[in-house]
Amino acid sequence: MEQIQIIDSKNHVGETVTIGAWVANKRSSGKIAFLQLRDGTAFFQGVVVKSEVPEEVFQTAKNLHQETSVLVTGEIREDSRSKFGYEIGITNVEVVSESHDYPITPKEHGTDFLMDHRHLWLRSSRQHAIMQIRNEIIRATYDFFNQHHFVKIDPPILTGSAPEGTTDLFETNYFDQKAYLSQSGQLYMEAAAMAFGKVFSFGPTFRAEKSKTRRHLIEFWMIEPEMAFTHQEESLEVQEQYVAFLVQNVLDHCEYALDVLGRDKEVLKTYTKLPFPRITYDDAIELLKKNGFDDIEWGEDFGSPHETFIANSFEQPVFILNYPKAIKPFYMKPHPTREDVVICADMIAPEGYGEIIGGSERATDYDFLLEQIRDHGLDEKEYSWYLDLRKYGSVPHSGFGLGLERTVTWIAGIDHVREAIPFPRLLNRIYP
Ligand code: 4AD
Ligand code: MG
Repeated sequence: MEQIQIIDSKNHVGETVTIGAWVANKRSSGKIAFLQLRDGTAFFQGVVVKSEVPEEVFQTAKNLHQETSVLVTGEIREDSRSKFGYEIGITNVEVVSESHDYPITPKEHGTDFLMDHRHLWLRSSRQHAIMQIRNEIIRATYDFFNQHHFVKIDPPILTGSAPEGTTDLFETNYFDQKAYLSQSGQLYMEAAAMAFGKVFSFGPTFRAEKSKTRRHLIEFWMIEPEMAFTHQEESLEVQEQYVAFLVQNVLDHCEYALDVLGRDKEVLKTYTKLPFPRITYDDAIELLKKNGFDDIEWGEDFGSPHETFIANSFEQPVFILNYPKAIKPFYMKPHPTREDVVICADMIAPEGYGEIIGGSERATDYDFLLEQIRDHGLDEKEYSWYLDLRKYGSVPHSGFGLGLERTVTWIAGIDHVREAIPFPRLLNRIYP
């Protein structure tokens, strides 16, 4: 008997196969047992008919507990009534290991309880669907950047620099020196762009932010492309093409997961239309003021209600361009005709999901950058390698960072970023 994964059913219809699985749920009468099974690739039904199997097989099936692991043998059949489309007509069940009193039952549980049991919660169909979408976004990311001849480069996690400001750094000892967990690989990606032209990274980043919101993680994964000989306008085009590509691939490859989550696919389709709208920071402030927001002044950063209002004024993700210099990091290129703003953009997701991309054109002038480093109170010795990039063949270059979990949260249409990562690190949670 061949051992297969249920996801491969269409190649095995009519065959008798063996599948390693767990019992997610069970319904049985005197004559028939319906096992809701999951083998890691999908959730599916196994049917055991008393009159068609040896009595001990039926008794074993009837007495299975939630999350008992089993080897089920039977015939793969098409099942047009289920969304998954296939089921297995079971002829034998072998228990691999018993499970008793599984803590997560089909009833409702509170979030804290579920978060304490994250190691088990991941087995549920909803979490499974979210992780499938996360996986697809990662897969499509590699696809997109490979198609466009970007080289994947891995920046370090232990660093001496603070690209996004010094307030939210995780400090650690590096023998007798201080080091920080990376809050962005960008500065290293700029070095890599000067070596390889177009590069992207994908890795964990850390922010010791004391923010307890639906959008903030302490540890999150970022995709950071960086492009030599590229101005901001071209970078924005890459960004919108990339995000539309992610949405399209999730639509193409995660239909089942989207259905499990109840995500409206028609709405998602509208996010694949290009270009995405652009609005300047100045105009965004004016838009907010005109609509009764008197809690924000030019020069201040947007809060989540502001971002949501701006996003709701458009039907697609929207770029907000050229923020005030004072609220953005030291490395951004100054605007050619205005001293008070920089050449940057954030992409704000629709439906209130907030900022998913932050990016900019980078300053190319050595003297300007040195001044910025000093003005931001950074130690210029630690940035001398970065300044070298402006000494030896400096070129216009731009890049951006896409937050993976925020993007998953938005595309999956879920409420909280904590469900978009397998083991979230949150303000008050480093367990499990
Ligand atoms: O806007 P940020 O801070 O930009 C950078 O780090 C740049 N150095 C990126 C670059 O240009 N290479 O972060 C980029 C994105 C945000 O738009 C958001 O999606 C995500 O990272 N992000 C977070 N996601 C979850 N939890 C947090 N605490 C996040 N902080 C930022
Ligand atoms: Mg940002």
